[in-house]
Amino acid sequence: MTARTLAIDTDPGQDDAVALLLAFAHREAFDVKLIASVAGNVGLERTTANALRIRDLAGRGDVPVHAGMAGPMVVPLETAEFISGPDGLAGSGLPESASRPADGHAVDALIRLIRIEPPGSVTICALGPLTNIAMALRLAPDIAPRLGLLSIMGGALSLGNMTPAAEFNFYVDPHAAAVVMSAGVKTALFGLDVTHQAIASPAHVARLAALGNRAGACVYGMLTRPRPGGMATKAHPMHDPCTVAWLMWPELFDGRDCHVEIETDGRVRGRSTIDWNGRTKRSPNAYVASKVDAGALFDRMIDSIARLP
Ligand code: RIB
Ligand code: CA
Repeated sequence: MTARTLAIDTDPGQDDAVALLLAFAHREAFDVKLIASVAGNVGLERTTANALRIRDLAGRGDVPVHAGMAGPMVVPLETAEFISGPDGLAGSGLPESASRPADGHAVDALIRLIRIEPPGSVTICALGPLTNIAMALRLAPDIAPRLGLLSIMGGALSLGNMTPAAEFNFYVDPHAAAVVMSAGVKTALFGLDVTHQAIASPAHVARLAALGNRAGACVYGMLTRPRPGGMATKAHPMHDPCTVAWLMWPELFDGRDCHVEIETDGRVRGRSTIDWNGRTKRSPNAYVASKVDAGALFDRMIDSIARLP
């Protein structure tokens, strides 16, 4: 099996960190060409710094981190320090990186990668607001037919987590989500209905603590950090790792092809209207995951984390 050419667009964020570590742990599955940071969980300066911290932890200084968009296409930026902490990686215990981001904007780096790689060969895991990807599609429409696959964490079949209607990534930049979901690129979508199932059991948390490596200690610290009051789930859901895990282990997931539309304005801004029952007769534009075998997912994720330094 040849490794998949992968770019990761991300707003680290603890679950982004676990997704990055999962991809880094599987060199046989992923040739990670670049990391594109975007404002989301915290501001761009912090998400970029955090991407460097996580890259250093995995010993992957060979993968460039390009800083991307500092805010959404239209609406003002709203961040989530209440979840991820002031620096965006509360609980990680990671030092700041001595490295600097690569030269060149992330949007330009994504466009360049998609243009130089064989058509259909590039996959992007999109873990944050879709601003970078939407801007790339607007700046270089020629990349849409060349981009092989988007594996996106965003949206929800049911309730949101930023508002009752909208999931955070799609809420923060609803216009970018609308641009990306209507671009005609092959897409897999991992919304809250499936990612809220991705919660580590106490036994899994204990296994992480016992791994004895720095990556295990980092993930353990992030998963066991205090939770803000009023959160919907008992523990920290691993939203973003679902986008990477599905690429390696699709058998752990269930879902169906659906038409997905994004509301950009008003009280349901960022809502992903997912036609799960095919009522609109509109042709599907995404595979929408609805179930995951969380036990097997964490067993395999922890085995993966064990491979790291
Ligand atoms: O709603 C969850 C998503 O928003 C995750 O990607 C999390 O990291 C934040 O970006
Ligand atoms: Ca994220």
